[in-house]
Amino acid sequence: MIADTVLCNAKVYTKRGIVQAGIAIEGDKIAKISKETNLPPACNRVNLDGCLALPGMIDSHVHLRGQLLSSREDFSTGTSAAVAGGITTVLDMPNNKPVTKDSTSLKERILHAERSIVANVGFLSAFPERLQEIEHIVRAGAVAFKVYLTDDVGGLDIDDDELMSKALLKTSAYGVPVAVHAEDGQAIHALTKREQRLGHKNLDAYLKVHSPKVETKAVKRILSIANQSNSQIHICHITSLDAVSLVKRARTDGLSVSCEITPHHLFLTLADLRKHGTRALTDPPLRSNRIVEHLWDAVRKHDIDIIASDHAPHTRAGKEAESIWDVSPGIPGLETLLPLFLTKVNEGHLALKNLIRMTSERPAEVFHLQNEGHLEVGYKANITVVDLHKTGQIEASRFHSKAKYSPFDHIQVKGLPAKTFVNGQLVMDNGEVVARRGIGRVLRSKARK
Ligand code: DOR
Ligand code: ZN
Ligand code: ZN
Repeated sequence: MIADTVLCNAKVYTKRGIVQAGIAIEGDKIAKISKETNLPPACNRVNLDGCLALPGMIDSHVHLRGQLLSSREDFSTGTSAAVAGGITTVLDMPNNKPVTKDSTSLKERILHAERSIVANVGFLSAFPERLQEIEHIVRAGAVAFKVYLTDDVGGLDIDDDELMSKALLKTSAYGVPVAVHAEDGQAIHALTKREQRLGHKNLDAYLKVHSPKVETKAVKRILSIANQSNSQIHICHITSLDAVSLVKRARTDGLSVSCEITPHHLFLTLADLRKHGTRALTDPPLRSNRIVEHLWDAVRKHDIDIIASDHAPHTRAGKEAESIWDVSPGIPGLETLLPLFLTKVNEGHLALKNLIRMTSERPAEVFHLQNEGHLEVGYKANITVVDLHKTGQIEASRFHSKAKYSPFDHIQVKGLPAKTFVNGQLVMDNGEVVARRGIGRVLRSKARK
């Protein structure tokens, strides 16, 4: 056998621990992991300089934008940002223009993506108006559905519990998960109206509206609906401690439920929001010191399944407005996630094993991404190579994303992605994206059909 590529001089993160080994790649798969002397000859040898080879990072919450929102981000810049940040697979959110909410809009989005992606991309769809369309969306390849409990992003009336229950029942029949932006829409609208009537348009008014309470309320509601339909629920960007407890209890009660947290909700607090202003505005907003400390505890206790960036790029103009109600919430996060958490690993505040569980293993399990999440023979050759000892500084002006701002700008980090391999190909080398556009693949649901 002659392998296509052999990665040598590496430390390889495997289920059995970190081993001094090399990796042989054939096509887009891992063919062998073993001592270098036992590896086959290869057309191409890549020296990893003693760096650590990790299972490809999967970011399960990304807004790639594109189409009519290409001024904020497009498939090429978004996936370039991903691989620059050491991320090999991203899951795209449906709140685009046009919204992904039926098989036609999904197919259109996939066509746009296939031409330009340099990372693998799976698509989430919003719910359609007609529930029969759910089947067509799954057949067209959606890996999951996304429901925004704040607004009617898709075609489903989110205030109608019965309809929601029927929609969830359908997704469970196909074995497809449902990701949820959990903030209670009715509460948000009533509170926003009240604040606006009072003429309040600053950060404090926004924080009053988007409180942990409205998050807890939404989580309670969706879990109770899911309970009747036996569907698989994934709570996005959790920031309420009560919501974390609810998820934990529901899981103990046998519900198939998972939750995710973002880097910004762990690394930043209300004080940072006040310091950075609208640049750090995101929805749900940053939380108090006390909450953030407890969220870290939940991470360390494995109560939270996934770390995802919620990469939500906006134009500079979108981030600046006189009234808080006109500011677009969202922070770009693809290029900062890994350096931030590797720094925590280096500081001894987070076990590497826990980080890989949350950025690779659990996302693959939760979203049913086959042959991803581990470095094993037969698995996809999606590999994130990191230099744990390298120090650097976050430089938003050098982001591959179109959104060149970040509340993490200029902070010092230790631990950086050094190389990224997608489908067996080197796509990022020492910060430079070296991929041919279109090298990424669209992941399709392996749902029961
Ligand atoms: O901060 C956010 N930005 N929260 C959301 O739910 C949407 C997202 C976006 O699309 O910009
Ligand atoms: Zn959201
Ligand atoms: Zn989001």
